[in-house]
Amino acid sequence: MKAILFNEHGPAANLYIGEAPDPVLEPGEILIRTKATSLNRADILQREGKYPPPQGTSEILGLDVSGVVERISEGVSDFKVGDRVMALLPGGGYAELAKAHQSCAMIIPDSLSFEQAAAVPEVFLTAYQALFLVGDLAQGQTVLIHAAASGVGTAAIQLARLQNASTIIATAGSEQKCEFCLDLGATDAVNYKEINFFDVVVQATQNYGADLILDFIGAPYFEANCLSLAVDGRIVSIAMMGGTKVDKANLAPLLFKRGAFIGTTLRSRTLSYKAQLVELFTTNALPYFASGQLKPIIDSVYPWDKVQDAQGHMESNNNMGKIVLTIT
Ligand SMILES: NC(=O)c1ccc[n+]([C@@H]2O[C@H](COP(=O)([O-])OP(=O)(O)OC[C@H]3O[C@@H](n4cnc5c(N)ncnc54)[C@H](OP(=O)(O)O)[C@@H]3O)[C@@H](O)[C@H]2O)c1
Repeated sequence: MKAILFNEHGPAANLYIGEAPDPVLEPGEILIRTKATSLNRADILQREGKYPPPQGTSEILGLDVSGVVERISEGVSDFKVGDRVMALLPGGGYAELAKAHQSCAMIIPDSLSFEQAAAVPEVFLTAYQALFLVGDLAQGQTVLIHAAASGVGTAAIQLARLQNASTIIATAGSEQKCEFCLDLGATDAVNYKEINFFDVVVQATQNYGADLILDFIGAPYFEANCLSLAVDGRIVSIAMMGGTKVDKANLAPLLFKRGAFIGTTLRSRTLSYKAQLVELFTTNALPYFASGQLKPIIDSVYPWDKVQDAQGHMESNNNMGKIVLTIT
């Protein structure tokens, strides 16, 4: 099969389309003829050599795909050849053929194209996990979502709105991104380059604070996040794009607010955890794509031979939502 490959870790210029062995199915797995895949920030880190794939998984980039089931292995009961599916992968999405465990695949709702479907699994499952399984977001609570115009952020805003969060405060790096987040359902949006987000949390929640903070930035936001928490609030750490080392942080607000700081990952979770997550998402969220209350947010679509441009676009931090590659 053809796949997007690189011979050395480094810049996007190292990516090229070459030949790779077809995936070999294990029991319980399905083979997908890929129609589209989407970019995730992890792809860039892996290409740079900063995020190795979990042991025993494909070295090829790509954490989600959409396509058509081409073959099923023994033990597969949920899918048949010809089904339109989207799937969460530990790797291998940037290729003509990808394999997924049946428990990590979902039938694509009729209302979604392959391009839209490729924009769903990784970011929506990450946001679902962070908000509900890890962050315990309940109806009527207040939530602060950083990097809110990102792929994960745009999914999180929509899921928090669906949960009837009372206040959804989004932070993003431009006025345009803030407007975009408000259109998606955020109740307040902060251009963090102009305004201190802590002040907006105080004002928007009348001093109550955020029951839940989805953090992607790490060290530079640690203290302001602790100050922004409500009593018994949770900070869910999904990424540390701004840095990992906090100097001289004051931990007192975390203690006095009985706050929790919880890290989470998705790719390294066990298959049974991912299966449970996909099942919950399929039951509680997927139906809302058909009704239009949830939608894949697509920033741009590139043919896969333009993958260097597509990753460059993500690296420039200009995307709002997902960047999709069509595989032809
Ligand atoms: N833990 C997990 O399981 C998990 C799963 C999926 C993704 N992630 C992580 O979640 C993050 C978002 O992923 P994504 O694919 O949704 O990202 P994305 O669409 O590429 O968006 C990332 C955005 O983050 C903002 N940002 C703020 N500070 C930044 C900094 N110092 N460096 C780079 N960007 C910065 C930028 O927007 P502004 O203009 O607003 O600054 C940028 O556009 C990534 O770090 C990814 O690795 C973690």
